[in-house]
Amino acid sequence: MSEISPNTNQKTVFIKTFGCQMNVYDSQKMTDLLAQTHGYTTASTEEEADLLILNTCSIREKAQEKVFSELGRWRKLKQKKQRLIAVGGCVASQEGESIISRAPYVDLVFGPQTLHRLPGMITTSLKQSKQMVDISFPEIEKFDNLPEPRAEGPSAFVSIMEGCSKYCSFCVVPYTRGEEISRPVDDIIIEIAELAAQGVAEVNLLGQNVNAYRGLHNDQSICDFAELIETVAAIDGIERIRYTTSHPVEFSQRLIDCYKTVPQLVDHIHLPVQSGSDRILNLMKRGHTVLEYKQKLRQLKAIRPNISFSSDFIIGFPGETEKDFKATLNLIKDMHFDYSFSFIYSSRPGTPAADLDDPVSLETKKKWLSEIQSQINQQTQAISSSMVGQVHPVLFEGTSKKSPEELKGRTENNRVVNVSIPQERHKQFIGQIAPIIITEALPNSLRGRLDV
Ligand code: SAH
Ligand code: F3S
Repeated sequence: MSEISPNTNQKTVFIKTFGCQMNVYDSQKMTDLLAQTHGYTTASTEEEADLLILNTCSIREKAQEKVFSELGRWRKLKQKKQRLIAVGGCVASQEGESIISRAPYVDLVFGPQTLHRLPGMITTSLKQSKQMVDISFPEIEKFDNLPEPRAEGPSAFVSIMEGCSKYCSFCVVPYTRGEEISRPVDDIIIEIAELAAQGVAEVNLLGQNVNAYRGLHNDQSICDFAELIETVAAIDGIERIRYTTSHPVEFSQRLIDCYKTVPQLVDHIHLPVQSGSDRILNLMKRGHTVLEYKQKLRQLKAIRPNISFSSDFIIGFPGETEKDFKATLNLIKDMHFDYSFSFIYSSRPGTPAADLDDPVSLETKKKWLSEIQSQINQQTQAISSSMVGQVHPVLFEGTSKKSPEELKGRTENNRVVNVSIPQERHKQFIGQIAPIIITEALPNSLRGRLDV
């Protein structure tokens, strides 16, 4: 009888994730779910994996193109060893069956709302060796079927709502993720309390349109985002609250007022504006003007003088002129945005903007993008430099990768700070917030020392 090594039957999974924080969150949930239901452990390489999952993004054409080139590579791996290939996320949601027509070696296709059905799909596919597609939108079912939350360090993402009902004219999200659905308040609170009990001090509330949150209390009354924040802040151990991504129209007076009453809300907000031109905002169907946006930021600044803002910008929306572009550049300067995301407009099939005339050349758009990005980078560096000499609360995440003598933490405005602290004291700091004097601003991080 040949000897069997203990891990012979241990199946492994490799998940490759493209796109937004929500996809990263979903991938983590898939890992936990598959460990629980099928005993899958995480493969260290694609080559060794028995199950390969591609969690896809379709927000821009480039992200979508990557899917089939990745799958092409995986086809070769499947020729070397029998294994399952699964495609999830927004491209799966949009393309469905046609993924299998184009890549017949794919076994499973599932959408962002059906990832909890993946274990069942795997079982059926293995038993009956058949291909399966499930990209339906079974409302809140997904959240009810996910594993217990598992903390990995002192900061955790918690999904509070899914989808988007804003239908900005350029965006595929409402079609791929569906309309807004909010989780019930109690489910969120229980999840966060469990995370806090595991040492989580910072939560990042996640949703495609997070401040449109309208979840139900047990008595069926509605809880808005401001009330949810107040409730989360009352959970023992929660010392920092962030959220991603909010929408200017849903940035209510009640939410603004939370910045007076909830000290755990960090001094930083990411609030996508997309353009500094009213004409373009109107074509984008964003539902607000530049002035309305600025007024909200000014109100927040009046409450929290040290608050900083970041944003998302789309450059070269169909019909954008030099004048519109300059308005965006001026808004960036005016609001002194910190690190922000900016992309050239990408026409997405099925969205209303895809039908608009787009006369501006790619060359001009690239020039505009690089101008915007260099302005934002300058501002990011200026903010980092201005922090030198100041004391900032830093949440320590763990030992720095570069040096075992250093701890790595994050400021409220999302900068990594490395601080030399003797190793025997690391345990005392990890998971805690401590005041740190910033001593140096490097291009991608800060250095600091204990404020003692
Ligand atoms: N809910 C967020 C946006 C989510 S999508 C909001 O309120 O704006 C993330 C970002 O991708 C957007 O902010 C936008 O800047 C960018 N994006 C979305 N569709 C795009 C497209 N068709 N072309 C280029 N960028 C796009
Ligand atoms: Fe997309 Fe606009 Fe919603 S950018 S995610 S449709 S708010």
